[in-house]
Amino acid sequence: MSVPVPPAELIRRVTGSPEADAFVRGGPWHLDAFARALERVGKTYGDFASIYDFGCGCGRITLPLRERAPQARIAASDIDEEAVGWLAENAPDVDARPNGGLPPLPYEDDSFDLVLAWSVFTHLPEDYQDAWLQELRRVTAPGAVLLLSVHGETNWRWTWREPLASRRWSPTRARLALLRRHRGFAHWRGDGWDALFPDYYHTTWHTHGYIRERWSRWFEVADIAPGEGPEHDIVVMRRPGS
Ligand SMILES: C[S@@+](CC[C@H](N)C(=O)[O-])C[C@H]1O[C@@H](n2cnc3c(N)ncnc32)[C@H](O)[C@@H]1O
Repeated sequence: MSVPVPPAELIRRVTGSPEADAFVRGGPWHLDAFARALERVGKTYGDFASIYDFGCGCGRITLPLRERAPQARIAASDIDEEAVGWLAENAPDVDARPNGGLPPLPYEDDSFDLVLAWSVFTHLPEDYQDAWLQELRRVTAPGAVLLLSVHGETNWRWTWREPLASRRWSPTRARLALLRRHRGFAHWRGDGWDALFPDYYHTTWHTHGYIRERWSRWFEVADIAPGEGPEHDIVVMRRPGS
């Protein structure tokens, strides 16, 4: 299936660069990482009837997902109305809708049996993160699987060795923020993303210990698949119930 390519400005909002090639290659690559994480709980994309891509942007993950899960109904939402509008127009088989910065989502209770979120919880402050975990619990069916990417300890260690490509980056400041919090959660507001996104949207890291303790208020944290090098870790969770 050939994948439609969004306008450069929409690509830039999800990858930081307007390059179409990286966008087109990135979706399947991240879907491979999600598939490996799913294997850790004995599942494949073929096991799910209703899949939701939370924070879909202009569909980097959603577009190639249609080929990996042809049996599933696919829904996707994002705060970026222009990106969601482009996705709805170019992938009419996807139920693509805008959502607000905070819950609720425009979906019924128990709607989904698999949720994907690539690089969304890597940007939320703690109060937004908690509110969205609560809301994802509402829209997932008992037994649903959630795969949420995070900047975990692998990314954190890499950050120490070498600043991220962006010169706006300050690992020292980010490090201080984490140390100050002492709880395994850091949200760094000096990254410049506020030029493109709402004020709450910045760069976030989690330790595995923090996730296991705090996110288990809403879900069973089944596993945390470490990323390679600076790549995101993937938190694998189950909605309690059967
Ligand atoms: C780094 S991009 C990743 C987009 C997409 N998941 C991908 O991998 O291409 C982060 C996305 O999160 C979206 N986002 C930020 N806050 C959100 C919120 N409260 N609800 C839903 N999406 C949100 C942004 O608009 C942006 O599209």
